[in-house]
Amino acid sequence: MGRLGFRVLLTSRGADGEAAALRLARNGIDVEHRRLDVVDAKSIEALAGQLRDEGRKVDVLVNNAGVYLDSEGARAARTTLEVNFFGPMRLTDALLDMMPAGAAVVMVSSGMGELSNFPPRLQEQLGAPALSRAQLLELMQAYAADVEQGRAREVGWPSAYRVSKAGLNALVRVLAVELSERRIRVNAVCPGWVRTEMGGRSAERSVEEGAQSIVATATLEDGPTGGIFRDGRAIDW
Ligand SMILES: NC(=O)c1ccc[n+]([C@@H]2O[C@H](COP(=O)([O-])OP(=O)(O)OC[C@H]3O[C@@H](n4cnc5c(N)ncnc54)[C@H](OP(=O)(O)O)[C@@H]3O)[C@@H](O)[C@H]2O)c1
Repeated sequence: MGRLGFRVLLTSRGADGEAAALRLARNGIDVEHRRLDVVDAKSIEALAGQLRDEGRKVDVLVNNAGVYLDSEGARAARTTLEVNFFGPMRLTDALLDMMPAGAAVVMVSSGMGELSNFPPRLQEQLGAPALSRAQLLELMQAYAADVEQGRAREVGWPSAYRVSKAGLNALVRVLAVELSERRIRVNAVCPGWVRTEMGGRSAERSVEEGAQSIVATATLEDGPTGGIFRDGRAIDW
């Protein structure tokens, strides 16, 4: 994004993000670092407040933070939903008033959220074309309650990661409708299997290749809204 001329605001919870921003700046990228924990409402509020006070506008928001936890207990499921689903939703909501017409929101999602992993009833509910935000939130809460009560498998929920990304994909469709009048595009991207800490060393793609998919979708002018893309091509929900 920096090479395309965007001023990049790179966020992270820890000092590693700051170091990454410094490295990029040394390579001529216009980048600033800010602290942000996407599961901490105060941290989101603080960032949004700073940007508002500075009179900034947000042309592109890339919601990239994500977790893939090994354990499948209730606590892990809650954390997974908080980071992968509620975090992007709250951050997007908090920055919306700074987004002009033509802005873009990109949710870094995953093919693992594909609805074919869900039983027919949940596929119908999550994939409903007229799904409202309230209904989606109810579904995510129902999943968390089912995990807590030990009946997630019986109901047919797949893993927490899959549920969180299917929820995020559904959120993309909900937001795309909510923001269409403001001409803000909202899309999901699956970066493919990428050699990050999450993807591991044997993953197929370099970080640059994974990022390319995200940049391509973020910078499509007058492009589509409410879709999910890999390498610039629409893929199945
Ligand atoms: N790698 C793949 O093959 C692959 C495939 C499909 C989709 N994805 C998606 O791509 C995105 C990036 O994943 P990745 O592969 O880069 O994973 P990663 O190597 O595990 O990095 C995840 C990043 O998310 C940050 N994060 C986690 N919780 C956070 C929080 N509460 N607040 C702020 N940041 C938080 C982590 O920060 P810390 O360093 O502070 O923990 C880390 O920088 C994720 O949404 C993931 O689901 C990845």
